[in-house]
Amino acid sequence: MTAAKSILLRSIFTTFACLLLTLASTLAFAQSIQVSVDASKTGPKIDRNLFGQFAEHLGYGIYGGIWVGPDSPIPNTRGIRNDVVAALKAIHVPNVRWPGGCFADEYHWRNGIGPEREVTLNPNWGGVIEPNTFGTHEFMDFIDQIGSEAYVSVNLGSGTVKEAADWLEYITAGQETTLQKERAANGHPAPYKVAMLGLGNESWDCGGNMTPEYYLDRMKVFTHFVRNYNPAQQEKDQMEKIAVGPGGGDQRWTDWTETVMKAYGQHTWSWGISGLSMHNYTVVKWPPAFKSFGFGEDEYAQILKSTLEMDDLINKHSAIMDKYDPGKKVALIVDEWGAWYAPLPGSHQGFLVQQNSLRDAILAALNLNMFARHADRVRGANIAQMINVLQAMILTEKEKMVLTPTYQVFKMYVPFQDSTFIPVAFNAGTYKHGEFSLPRVDAVAAKGKDGKLWVEITNVDPNQSAEIELSVTGINAKSASGETLTAPKVDSINTFDAPHTIVPKPISAKGQGGRLILKLEPKSVTVVSVE
Ligand code: AHR
Repeated sequence: MTAAKSILLRSIFTTFACLLLTLASTLAFAQSIQVSVDASKTGPKIDRNLFGQFAEHLGYGIYGGIWVGPDSPIPNTRGIRNDVVAALKAIHVPNVRWPGGCFADEYHWRNGIGPEREVTLNPNWGGVIEPNTFGTHEFMDFIDQIGSEAYVSVNLGSGTVKEAADWLEYITAGQETTLQKERAANGHPAPYKVAMLGLGNESWDCGGNMTPEYYLDRMKVFTHFVRNYNPAQQEKDQMEKIAVGPGGGDQRWTDWTETVMKAYGQHTWSWGISGLSMHNYTVVKWPPAFKSFGFGEDEYAQILKSTLEMDDLINKHSAIMDKYDPGKKVALIVDEWGAWYAPLPGSHQGFLVQQNSLRDAILAALNLNMFARHADRVRGANIAQMINVLQAMILTEKEKMVLTPTYQVFKMYVPFQDSTFIPVAFNAGTYKHGEFSLPRVDAVAAKGKDGKLWVEITNVDPNQSAEIELSVTGINAKSASGETLTAPKVDSINTFDAPHTIVPKPISAKGQGGRLILKLEPKSVTVVSVE
């Protein structure tokens, strides 16, 4: 080869390499997503109660999941599993809704107190025996052990007003009434605290098939007579009373919200509510047919697309509430939400046992972000359900326990509890799969109780990583650090044998001219604090 030829070849090669480099950096630039946090503006409080849990007498949710009994070989404190308590403490559960669900409207509290318990049935959930060994005292002990608060749902369907009123007196009375003495004789002289009271559950269906008008009349009587007597709750820190609200978005449900909120807006008599419940599961078909694991990208995209409908539903019912309650005194409490899939093959069909995959972690983050963006009206939410049922935090099998990807998201979001919402702008882009088109990225920001700026970014796209250029108005961001959660596949799960497949990993970024570059893995949830 002549020298001239070699020089020519070298210069062609150099030009080509330069072109490639330019193309790569152009692509990288085109792909980077700008996330701008405006820390000079603040919004409402992101109420810690948005991270509430729900524990119903259903399948292994209570029995096996929480309660094993004091004589069990499984390590326990007064019958309550120590491993489960330790895990729940770490996610700072703000409240637990109990005893249901549909179960609540067939629950008779006297069956679950004292040394001799009535043995009854659980007609809603498999018709199995309900031993009532986990009752009021055991629930309150559990709440105390995990450092949470009680959200008690009273039986407005098959119970009487007197039964519910007596229950609240039994739980909360400080003075020496007969019911207070009975509670003391059963081991707890001091009054318990009930932070939230549910006035029935799904009264339009399993709670008694009521019309909104009939429910309203009944609810008004309950809200008047079912009182909290705990002396510590008289002045401030009063018990919140939550009325049954909608279970969907069509006219049946808007009529329900309209009926209850109109009456609230006009009320001049002695009843009041501080919350309206809303139930919304992510379930594409009924009965639930989607698999909780062993699925591909089609089901990933379809379920996540479907979960985003929560936003429309909140908008719809908030608009009705705004008409009658412009001051937003009544909170919208989404006290049942989460993914509802087909029961696991071989499991009892009435026990609602399902697996929990990376898809559920992404789904949880998207919902928590939607709640945060509506934090002025949505001030409570309870994922269904806490242990062994539907989109659970924890799965147990005898002495074994595993923490699910959803649990990891709740843990990563702890800094958002009682934080202050901060507006965040981002060009989400689009993730497309077949007929499904979703925002590729989602993000929320907040000022935590610790004074730090916290940012959450979800990369929904299961195939492409996302380069995030994070900037904070008015602040020269020096660094960011936190945790990121992902897994090899959209349906990856944690199992009893491999419990650490999906656990958060550290992530950090250094500032470059006031901006932070974060590279997020495909299908990931990331929470960082910014210095
Ligand atoms: O969470 C399971 C059930 O779903 C609840 O008992 C009921 O309220 C809802 O229909």
